[in-house]
Parts: sequence; structure tokens; C-alpha cells
Amino acid sequence: MTTEKNQACDLVIFGAKGDLTKRKLLPALYKLEKLRKLHKSTRIIATGRANWNTEDYIKIIKKSIKTFLKEDIQDHIWTQFSSRIFFHNINVYEMLHFEKLKKILVKQNNIIIYYCATPPETLNAIFLGLGNTHLNFPSSRIILEKPLGVSLKTSQIINNQISKYFSEKQIFRIDHYLGKESILNLFSLRFANSLLFHTWNNTIIDHIQITVSEEVGIEDRWNYFDKIGQTRDMVQNHLLQLLTIITMDQPKNIQSENIRNEKVKILRSLNPINLDNINQFTVRGQYSSGVIREKKVPSYLKENGANKYSQTETFVAMQINLNHEKWLGVPFYLRTGKRLAHKYSEIVIVFKKNPINLFIDSNIELLSNKLIIRLEPNANIQYDILNKTPSLQNKYKLEILTLKSNNINQENSKNLIDAYERLLLESMRGIQALFVSRDEVEESWKWIDSILDGWKNIKNDNLQLYKAGSWGPKNANILLSYNNHTWHKFQ
Ligand SMILES: NC(=O)c1ccc[n+]([C@@H]2O[C@H](COP(=O)([O-])OP(=O)(O)OC[C@H]3O[C@@H](n4cnc5c(N)ncnc54)[C@H](OP(=O)(O)O)[C@@H]3O)[C@@H](O)[C@H]2O)c1
Repeated sequence: MTTEKNQACDLVIFGAKGDLTKRKLLPALYKLEKLRKLHKSTRIIATGRANWNTEDYIKIIKKSIKTFLKEDIQDHIWTQFSSRIFFHNINVYEMLHFEKLKKILVKQNNIIIYYCATPPETLNAIFLGLGNTHLNFPSSRIILEKPLGVSLKTSQIINNQISKYFSEKQIFRIDHYLGKESILNLFSLRFANSLLFHTWNNTIIDHIQITVSEEVGIEDRWNYFDKIGQTRDMVQNHLLQLLTIITMDQPKNIQSENIRNEKVKILRSLNPINLDNINQFTVRGQYSSGVIREKKVPSYLKENGANKYSQTETFVAMQINLNHEKWLGVPFYLRTGKRLAHKYSEIVIVFKKNPINLFIDSNIELLSNKLIIRLEPNANIQYDILNKTPSLQNKYKLEILTLKSNNINQENSKNLIDAYERLLLESMRGIQALFVSRDEVEESWKWIDSILDGWKNIKNDNLQLYKAGSWGPKNANILLSYNNHTWHKFQ
């Protein structure tokens, strides 16, 4: 089943009229066509409740692909691409509709991939429909989107439901961060460079910071977001994935199974945060009104459709400790929030100071070396070293010299691979390394549940307001100050 070659596939999209399909999936598929990555016999079977025909569907999506791709559609590529698309009317609660789908699918001998781009409450109906009509062929694959539950219990329900019809090898759970070029580069940075490989542990590293900061608010998603909050929406998946990639042991090889097993070991080593230590290790915040890019923005409680008593967090910062021999004594600080001063994602590795200061006459203290990995925008790597300031008087006055790479992803390049392009292609090749395993999902929910329970049961709720356009509540700085650390400033 695992092969590097592009295979002829029937990609069945449930929810083909929805936002995710229009915004991400179809533009990514068009780009794969342009890059000649789709097998000549690959078909796209778009499905939805709407009573459209293929012709109507193709007309409508041409416009949206153009909007989201931000480039003109080339006629010869469009002719080839649109000839692969077929629209079929399917309500996932109608078993008869799956029978009709079967007639279309069995005609061709393609690998079948089901993409669930429908609301979470429809998932079980899709599994049942496919299972009961025997469309869950052993060679088929199924792609699931986030959210994969909102707790350990609810994620287990989804996993148990799907596992009745599909084996783990057939299930591709998307965390789109894993498809990003800059995040894939973390593997090469860590495991291909001997200097970093040999120093990547608690003997040399003092602490690590991970920031995923957003400028946007909740973008008219109040009903969805308010039930979820920033911790479930961002930490359970994206930030914990980054943490596992940055701390996992070197896998035996880069096969899916080995990578995913190493990541699970990290998730199992996270020290629990619970009612006893929740105030020591976490800070939660909610944005009040403020200014972003010179534009006034409302508070979270004044967003469209808001319930003005909501206690949902739009910001979270936490200190995590790992019970792992390589990482004992190294704090990991995670922070993510909406309506912050700038949109960026970054990992900062702060190395220990040299314990012997030869230069004490001109430098009371030696500063730390830092490796700053900017994931987006303009992915780059920066290394801060201590360097002598040229001077006759102050012989050894040291200063930070920053060695900075250019934009490592060539973001402006037309050939840059977007996360969804890569993940769709990997699913067509049957490679699971960039998808999240059941164990990863459940371990991360187990750890997050304990934090959410802590917040629910604590007497003095620690939700703090922060101004939109700031870097979050002041307690996020205090969190680090207990260890004499400070957040690396955005540059
Ligand atoms: N939008 C994003 O950027 C994004 C990002 C990450 C994850 N996700 C996840 O992806 C999933 C889809 O999100 P979305 O934003 O695309 O939602 P959406 O715009 O509401 O689209 C959902 C689609 O599901 C279809 N659908 C609903 N009930 C159905 C049924 N009974 N039978 C068949 N089709 C049905 C709808 O089809 P009709 O319109 O024909 O009824 C619609 O096309 C959600 O789980 C979401 O959390 C979305």
C-alpha cells in the first residue's frame, strides 16, 4: 500500500460545496494538476446535498479557485483539470445515495480516497454509509479534518466509530501544519546537521519557546469558537505537534510508523498540568478592544453573535516540562492567541550561557546564544552568536551578531508547495508520516483535558483581559519571569 509513485485515484469529497473545499482543497488540486502531479486517470468526485450537475459545479468553482489561488487560471490546465471533476448529489444520511456512489466508483479500478470536509456531526453517517455499502475497500483511504473531537472521550468516540470500517493504515488525520514546508524543514535541521543533532538536549539547551500568534479575531465563527477556545483550537493540535517535532528522538528512519511512534513517546512524557499546578503553569486571556494595523477592532465580547458573559480564552500561554531524560530541567513555553500584535509562528531555542566568563572585565554577564526558527511568514533561520565589538579601548566588549538565512522557503516562488497540496499528494501516495495517528490524537487530548478540567474547577478563574494589538495578558510575562526568562521579542 505504501508507495512513492502517484497512483490513479478517485478522490471523493464529501462537502464539496463547503468553505474548506473551495478555499483549500480545489485550489490545491488545481496546483497539483499544474505541477503534473495528478495521475492521468485520477478523478475528483465532488459530492454535496445541493442538486447540481457537474456542469454547474465546474462553473461555480472556477470562480472560487481563481479567488483563493490568487492567480489566473490557465486554459489548457483548466481543460485537463475540469475533465476530472464529477458532481454527485449525496446526503450522507441517505443510504441509497451511497449505493449510487458505488456504481460510479467500481467502474474504475482506482484507489479510492474519501475526504470528509463536512461538519463533525456528519462523520459517523459517512463511516456507516461507506461501511454498509461495502465501499470501505481494503485499498481505500479516508481523510479526516480537525476537529477530531473536543476531548479524549469525544475523540475516542470518533476513532471507535471509524475503526469499525477502516483500519489505522487507511485513516489519514489532517493537521495542516504538518504539510508546511518550514515545519518539514525542522526534521532536516535537527537530524541532518551534526552540530545541532549533538547539542539538542538539556546539557546545552536552557529553554525553548514556541509562539503561534494571530492578528485575526474569530472571523464570524463565534458559535464554533466560543465552545472550543484557543487551547482546543490551536494547542491540542498545532502547538503540540510542533513540540513533538522539536523534541522527539531521532526515528530509525523516516517511515511513517517510526516518526509517529517517536512523537507519541513525547506526548506520553508531558508532565500533567492539573488543578494543583494550573496557576503556576498556565495563563489564559481574552481580548478586549484595541487597534490592529491602525484599525480599531472590537473586544471578543462585542464580536458578532457574542454572549457577553463568555469566559472562553482567546489566548493561552503555558510552561510545559517533559519527563524525558534528554529534556529534564528544560522548560518549554508555548503561547498562542488571537488579535495579537503580529501574525507569526516561531520556535526559539535558547542555549545555556557559558558558565565561565573570561570577558568579565568588559561583560558582567555573557548573553545566551539563540537559534530562532521563523516558520511563517518569510520562513528563515537566525542564529545569535557573541562577537567582539571592534574597538581599541574596550578590548573584549561583546555584542550579539545575528547570522540570518534568507527566506528559506522561497515563499514568493510560484513553485512553493502549499500544505494542502502536499498532504493531498501524500494521501494519494499512501504515505502517513505527515498525518496524525490515533495514539497522538488521544494522548494529546488526555493531556489537554487535564488542563481544561483544572480551569473549570479552580476557585479564582485566571482569565485575564488583554488589549487587541498587544502581546497578550501581562501574566504571560510573569509566567516566564519565575525562571528569569523573557519572551523573545518579535523582530
Ligand atoms: N473551512 C476551513 O478552512 C476549515 C479548516 C480546517 C478544518 N475545517 C473542518 O472541515 C469541515 C468542513 O468545514 P467547512 O468550513 O468547509 O464547512 P461548511 O462551509 O459548512 O461546509 C460543509 C459542507 O458539508 C456539507 N454537508 C453538511 N451536511 C451534509 C449532509 N447531511 N450530507 C452531505 N453533505 C453535507 C454541506 O453541503 P451542502 O452545502 O450541499 O448542504 C457543505 O458543503 C469541518 O469539520 C471544519 O471544522 C474547515
